[in-house]
Amino acid sequence: MKEQGAPGLPGRNDPCWCGSGLKYKKCHLGKDDGPDHGVRQAASLPPRPRSAVFGKPRQRGSLVKTAEQIRGIREAGKLAWELLEMLEDRIRPGISTDDIDAWVHEYTVAHGAVSAPLNYKGFPKSVCTSVNEVVCHGIPGGRVLEEGDIVNVDVTPILNGYYGDSSRMYAVGRIAPEAERLIRVTRECMELGIAQVRPGGHLGDIGHAIQTHAEGAGYSVVRDFVGHGTGVRFHEDPQVAHFGRPGVGHPMLPGMVFTIEPMINLGDWHVRILNDGWTAITTDGSLSAQWEHTVVVTPDGVEVLTGAP
Ligand code: MF3
Ligand code: CO
Ligand code: CO
Repeated sequence: MKEQGAPGLPGRNDPCWCGSGLKYKKCHLGKDDGPDHGVRQAASLPPRPRSAVFGKPRQRGSLVKTAEQIRGIREAGKLAWELLEMLEDRIRPGISTDDIDAWVHEYTVAHGAVSAPLNYKGFPKSVCTSVNEVVCHGIPGGRVLEEGDIVNVDVTPILNGYYGDSSRMYAVGRIAPEAERLIRVTRECMELGIAQVRPGGHLGDIGHAIQTHAEGAGYSVVRDFVGHGTGVRFHEDPQVAHFGRPGVGHPMLPGMVFTIEPMINLGDWHVRILNDGWTAITTDGSLSAQWEHTVVVTPDGVEVLTGAP
């Protein structure tokens, strides 16, 4: 009987994930930090509201997707990209976050898909809209966007059962140079995180690259929310922290699909959840930005599944 190792890791007598050709027990077994490393990092942090960590622990297994699943996730990812593109010239002073919700809902349905956020653990809308000091999970409503605001729009269409999760920042009219810089650096954080993705790398490499860039710019990395496996369900294992140490955490395996979605604050990293149970804001009222892509580990690096086609 095959001895089942940790989820996503080879059995003792299987070839090592690193491609050495050695059996796992003769190679990385014992050197791996283990799949729970990222979780342990998160668990060492102060307790957080259940809603902030997406509820129940994610299901185990299926860290590595099949070629067919990856094709499906790529199609959903393309729709996520189109949704975010569609919003580029619509987001301007005078529109409301409910307008964004309506546009996303209509476009999603018109393309044969469903919005994953709608009714997800009670979330009432089809998209998250997070304005200024809102870190993530902002609920669309009557709020009218004003010149100088910054807003993150986070979309996740489900197409043929597959999820594509992506978000970007939009400037509402002309914005302050500090806001411009925060948006740019946060995007660079995501891109530097993506650049760390390769088979045999570790999830900690991603967090380390992001944290180094954000803190180097004088910003802080939000701890309470992390990237996540996705594709077949909304939120799957593993957790992908946006802070950490290189060489630790779960090894990246070809076929793993996960998000990289750093939330970077101009002030400190503490957040709190409003009474609606969703909206996360910076406790110090400082601006926060976020960018998100869904990626797959390929045999020789990374493919961004929610990128421009
Ligand atoms: N799209 C978000 C993420 O990146 C999750 C939103 S959950 C919702 O993981 F319920 F708020 F929509
Ligand atoms: Co996500
Ligand atoms: Co998202």
